[in-house]
Amino acid sequence: MELKERIKEKYREAARRVTTGEGLPADCCSTTSCCDGFAAASCDPITSNLYDAGQAGQIPEAALKASLGCGNPTALARLNAGETVLDLGSGGGIDVLLSARRVGPTGKAYGLDMTDDMLALARRNQRQAGVENAEFLKGEMERIPLPEGAVDVVISNCVINLSCDKDRVLAEAFRVLKPGGRFAVSDVVVRGDVPSEIRRSMELWVGCIAGAMQDSEYRDKLANAGFTSIEIEPTRVYDLQDARAFLSGQGLDVDTMASQVEGKFLSAFIRAVKPSDSIQAFPPRPG
Ligand SMILES: C[S@@+](CC[C@H](N)C(=O)[O-])C[C@H]1O[C@@H](n2cnc3c(N)ncnc32)[C@H](O)[C@@H]1O
Repeated sequence: MELKERIKEKYREAARRVTTGEGLPADCCSTTSCCDGFAAASCDPITSNLYDAGQAGQIPEAALKASLGCGNPTALARLNAGETVLDLGSGGGIDVLLSARRVGPTGKAYGLDMTDDMLALARRNQRQAGVENAEFLKGEMERIPLPEGAVDVVISNCVINLSCDKDRVLAEAFRVLKPGGRFAVSDVVVRGDVPSEIRRSMELWVGCIAGAMQDSEYRDKLANAGFTSIEIEPTRVYDLQDARAFLSGQGLDVDTMASQVEGKFLSAFIRAVKPSDSIQAFPPRPG
């Protein structure tokens, strides 16, 4: 619970800073960690330069400034007209608004977030964008407030790593997907061993680093939840300089640690499918 409260606090503050136009301090490049790049599109190694000009032109500037993801699921996911999409941890709403445009007026995009200020920011961005086929829901991805088989595609951008109960999140994603539905998620993953000091840092967990799963673990957990056709495609590998940026300001020995994790953290696009013949095969909804 302490971790969840800290996550809420961090993203509440992020939403506030975007809403007030405050942005990050001038030294953000040296102090930021993953997901801190909301006003720093040119300096955060993880959140920067994810959306092209064509996509940026479709949404309000505040939605782009609130982007805290580590990939661009809407660019990589197959989304068809008329489909229903759910974004887990929708933040300022960027991927929901882009998805809503992709699925068109006969489709729908839901965003789910547990932080009130992020939901308020996302709804404001939705009004500014004039997007009508989107809806932002309050709730936790460990207990998704939608019925079984409600959506065609589950997307998410740099959020599943934040959960302390990833099995439950993946079981919930499986439950709300229709048979044949797609899981299409950007997330931070790890390849190789990472020092335990990094794993133990609450601030690095809240910043999307410490809770990242090994790619093999991600595959296993997806398979355990019932998914098939699992693919993990690296989209950005974090080099020494990037590692220094996300480790700094955490009270760690950056010189030593950065070289130990060089090239081990990556952003990846994770695809999987709920089999078309999975009739009520999902686990019972967690109580
Ligand atoms: C790193 S930000 C990513 C936001 C957005 N996906 C983007 O790309 O800009 C994480 C977001 O997930 C939300 N979040 C974190 N844990 C959550 C949970 N367990 N359930 C629902 N939302 C959560 C936070 O409130 C925050 O808005």
